[in-house]
Amino acid sequence: MYLSPFKLERYFARYEFNTEYLLCSSDCEAMSVADLLAFEAGAAEKFQNVWLGYTESLGSPTLRKEIAGMYSTTQPEDILVFSGAGEAIYLFMMAALQAGDHIIVHSPHYQSLSEVAKGIGCNVGLWRAHEENGWALDVNELPALMQPSTKAIIINTPHNPTGYLMSRADFDALNRFAQENNLLLFSDEVYRESEFDPAHRLPAAVDYGTHAISLGVTSKTYGLAGLRIGWTATKNHDLYNKMASLKDYTTICNSAPSEFLAEVALRHREKLAERNLGIIKHNLAVIDDLFTRHSSLFTWVRPQAGSMGFPKLLKGDVEEFCDDLVKKAGVLLLPGTMYEDTGNHFRLGLGRKSLPQAVEKLRGYL
Ligand SMILES: Cc1ncc(COP(=O)(O)O)c(C=O)c1O
Repeated sequence: MYLSPFKLERYFARYEFNTEYLLCSSDCEAMSVADLLAFEAGAAEKFQNVWLGYTESLGSPTLRKEIAGMYSTTQPEDILVFSGAGEAIYLFMMAALQAGDHIIVHSPHYQSLSEVAKGIGCNVGLWRAHEENGWALDVNELPALMQPSTKAIIINTPHNPTGYLMSRADFDALNRFAQENNLLLFSDEVYRESEFDPAHRLPAAVDYGTHAISLGVTSKTYGLAGLRIGWTATKNHDLYNKMASLKDYTTICNSAPSEFLAEVALRHREKLAERNLGIIKHNLAVIDDLFTRHSSLFTWVRPQAGSMGFPKLLKGDVEEFCDDLVKKAGVLLLPGTMYEDTGNHFRLGLGRKSLPQAVEKLRGYL
């Protein structure tokens, strides 16, 4: 199995820890262990006694119970905990797909959502988002994307990198389409609960039935990427068992301190999400002002959820722009070419407290 280099991760590897202003991060502002433990009386003392042996491979029973409570219809036995969402994507594809299978993938997308399938020998059809329509997907395009060998649809909403949030009617129709055509629906929901208007939050795919797998993680909405705790929620127990069995060949089980901290975090996830949405909304006002002042240089579709947007550079080449910006001003933007985008877009991160200072630097450069 050959996996092409993960372009976005290789780009970050070059800059993430030596650039002063990260203006393209996909996650929300993190916090220290001490700050997280302060959310719950007695948690700091309990953390001292966490046992550092191997943990239960499926995830600790109490953590799985906490995660199951995030959905309407799931039980702990529907939840499988991984070391990050990345491991979950990898093992879902290894468990569900075989060489020659075809999948339909939301495009543009986080690279592993198609790359692992390609590595297995699958064919990938792109379900393209329409920028002119708020980066929306058109459910009516699905029948034309179908092939006799189609096994799964891979969707990501709220979306990295555009911040697109599918409408309830379209999500219902998508789930119906997957069920009627006997397809798996892998729903990357790592930005769920970061909707700017909570009234627009979608039900989780897992709550639609056994065709669906919902993907979650502590990294994004809750700002705790360093925990490396992700999970799948699915009532498809055949698939669940296959993923669980494959995990014996990757991480076997999760980090005990991380599982403890993730459980604390998820018990207080509303407060964490509220804190991070506060940062995002404050930053959005700064960005709105920047783009109003530089309307001849950029256009963008304002996101509806999550901690990212995907503006378009109207003059010059976006790779050269990002390269020159980081060299001259120490501000990191991510060219859309890392997503195979050809429209001169770049990824803008909205979840970090340092955004106003980074934008000040960007303004000076412009
Ligand atoms: C849409 C999406 N899915 C999955 C992941 C993987 O998450 P993690 O790095 O926490 O494993 C990311 C990370 O950027 C992402 O943006």
